[in-house]
Amino acid sequence: MSGLNTTFTTPDATDAVELHALVKNSPPLDPNSLYCNLLQCSHFADTAIAARQDGRLIGFISGYRIPERPNTLFVWQVVVAAEARGQGLAHRMLCQLLAKPACRDVSFLETTITPDNDASWALFKRLQRTLECDGKESVQFDQQRHFQDQHQTEMQFRIGPFTQQKVIS
Ligand SMILES: CC(C)(COP(=O)(O)OP(=O)(O)OC[C@H]1O[C@@H](n2cnc3c(N)ncnc32)[C@H](O)[C@@H]1OP(=O)(O)O)[C@@H](O)C(=O)NCCC(=O)NCCS
Repeated sequence: MSGLNTTFTTPDATDAVELHALVKNSPPLDPNSLYCNLLQCSHFADTAIAARQDGRLIGFISGYRIPERPNTLFVWQVVVAAEARGQGLAHRMLCQLLAKPACRDVSFLETTITPDNDASWALFKRLQRTLECDGKESVQFDQQRHFQDQHQTEMQFRIGPFTQQKVIS
């Protein structure tokens, strides 16, 4: 499914409706408002990547450079269509994203992951191995303190420092 004819593009606002449906159909991701997806695909498009096959959106990563620490790319959501999973697509998208000009000065990546999302942990640990750098886990948003028990704790996974050369090689 995620073979040679997969194309990777910088999204634009016309991708938002498809992205909205993909995220909505991909638990445990929190569904976004369509308006949020429109912003991810416009204001934050340079630090996002879309994967298409036969014209269909099969993968997407949204992110941004943290305003007060622009050397750090925050990965907001990673999603791969159910039928395209387990073939390395999410890893390829992360590498393609880090190789984009907008990430030229990025040397750290942060994301948050719930403790039980094995696929997400495996994905980012694989990236850490690829980049041959440190990885640190800490609590970013606590179940009680920040979510008032409405959501599991979101653990921060911080990877780096790394160089863009490592991404491309
Ligand atoms: C998480 C997700 C994006 C992974 O996409 P994918 O294209 O299947 O991932 P990859 O094929 O690139 O795999 C990357 C690593 O994760 C591992 N992995 C993938 N799915 C896994 C699963 N269900 N359980 C455990 N490990 C898994 C792979 O084995 C690989 O690790 P390895 O190289 O050590 O073997 C996809 O499962 C998904 O969209 N899930 C629903 C949404 C979500 O939870 N997103 C992440 C939170 S932001």
